[in-house]
Parts: sequence; C-alpha cells; structure tokens
Amino acid sequence: MKNIISIENVSFGYNKDNILNDIMLSIDEGDFVGIVGCNGSGKSTLLKLLIGQLNPSKGKVKFFNEEISKSNNLDKIGYVSQISMSTGASFPATVEEIVMANLYSKIGFLKFPKKEHKEKVKESLKIVNMEDYPKRLIGNLSGGQQQRVMIARALVSNPKILILDEPTTGIDAASEEQLYNLLEKLNKESKITIIIVSHDFAKITKYTNKIFMVENNSVSLINGKDEV
Ligand SMILES: Nc1ncnc2c1ncn2[C@@H]1O[C@H](COP(=O)(O)OP(=O)(O)O)[C@@H](O)[C@H]1O
Ligand SMILES: [Mg+2]
Repeated sequence: MKNIISIENVSFGYNKDNILNDIMLSIDEGDFVGIVGCNGSGKSTLLKLLIGQLNPSKGKVKFFNEEISKSNNLDKIGYVSQISMSTGASFPATVEEIVMANLYSKIGFLKFPKKEHKEKVKESLKIVNMEDYPKRLIGNLSGGQQQRVMIARALVSNPKILILDEPTTGIDAASEEQLYNLLEKLNKESKITIIIVSHDFAKITKYTNKIFMVENNSVSLINGKDEV
C-alpha cells in the first residue's frame, strides 16, 4: 500500500523537555487509524505535527513522501480539532458559513463564493446528513450535529486524509455510533484515510485497522490487523 503520511525520528517539546522523543509512525492510503493514550500523553501534539501545525525539533514529517513544511498539498488534509465543538457553541456563524470558510483559500481573498463553491458546501453537508440546516446557527445544534458540521467543513476541500481529535467527546452514544458509521463509509466508499484520537478503546478496535499508543514520550503500534 502507498504511504500517505509518515513520521521519521521526530522529537518535539514545547519547552526544553520533549513531549515526543524520537518517534516513528507510518500510515498508508486507505488506513483507518486509531490513536490512544492517557490525558496529556501527547496525542493532540502528535496530530499537530502530522498536519504541519507544529514543527519537529528533530526528524521529518512527510506527506506523500514530501516534507510537510514544503508541501503544496496541505488542503488535502482535513483536520477536526479537539476544541472545535466547544468553541463552535458560542460562535455566531451559520452552518453553511462555517463549511464555506474552509474554501476561502480556493475562492480567493475578498471574493465571493461562486455557484460551484455553494454546490460543494451543499454536497459536503449532504454527506454528513446536515443538508437541512444550512442557515442554522452552529450554537443551536446538538453536540453530535455540530461535530458532523465540522466534518463537512473538513470534507469541503476534498481531503485525502481526515484527522479527528477526540470527536466523540460530549456526544451521546447514538450520535457516536452514527459518527463512526460515517467515518467508516468515508473510509470504505470514498477511500479517505482516517486518523482518529479516542478514549473509547472498544469502539476504535472495532472500526480501525491500526492502533497507535502514545505513552512515555513514545508512539508504538499496538494493533495492526493488516500486519498479523
Ligand atoms: N501549547 C502548549 N504549550 C506548552 N505545553 C503544552 C501545549 N500544548 C500541550 N502542552 C503540554 O504537552 C503535553 C501533551 O499535551 P497534548 O498533546 O494536548 O496531550 P493529549 O492530547 O494526549 O491529552 C501536556 O503535558 C500538555 O500540558
Ligand atoms: Mg488532546
């Protein structure tokens, strides 16, 4: 399988102590990857290194075999951050505005969205089953619905990989199941590589083909169904 994203001997710390020390990780196109670990172990930090939001102090992060800091393909990475839902709740924007905002690099600064952009927003909302709520303020939706809007926002730029940081925090069991089913569909039918950070070990064992554990400043593969 073709490698989509990899971490080679990466170290990183916010100050002098390394949060992650000399880690290796490799993800192939089509993988559905789970990332687990205790609170504060470095899971969100790992994701931020993967999307190029943080730069390693040592080692390399590669996206399609190209160093991520030099990549022109960052719009191929869809990212749903850990805090998106709680900040979304008080944010005075509508569902379609939030999704459209992720297209502004394509639309161009100070230009208006064209028909094709509006169609794309509609299409993304349809994928997550939120097409009936374009004008709704994000704060007036349930947690599960808000999370689906954030996924539509990530999907609107046609990502090859979708990276989600604890997307099921604060949502009920039924919405959680719905979210996993949506991710499974995106993975199987749209061939989007998925990386998800989660506390729910049973759930991610069911849906993923690879699980990495972040612990003691290291990352280890603890379950790779492909590799047995
Ligand atoms: N911006 C930051 N500045 C300084 N320390 C940080 C910052 N973000 C996270 N940390 C620290 O780095 C460690 C790992 O954090 P994080 O990656 O958020 O862990 P996790 O997502 O596994 O809970 C924690 O000790 C956290 O306090
Ligand atoms: Mg985190």
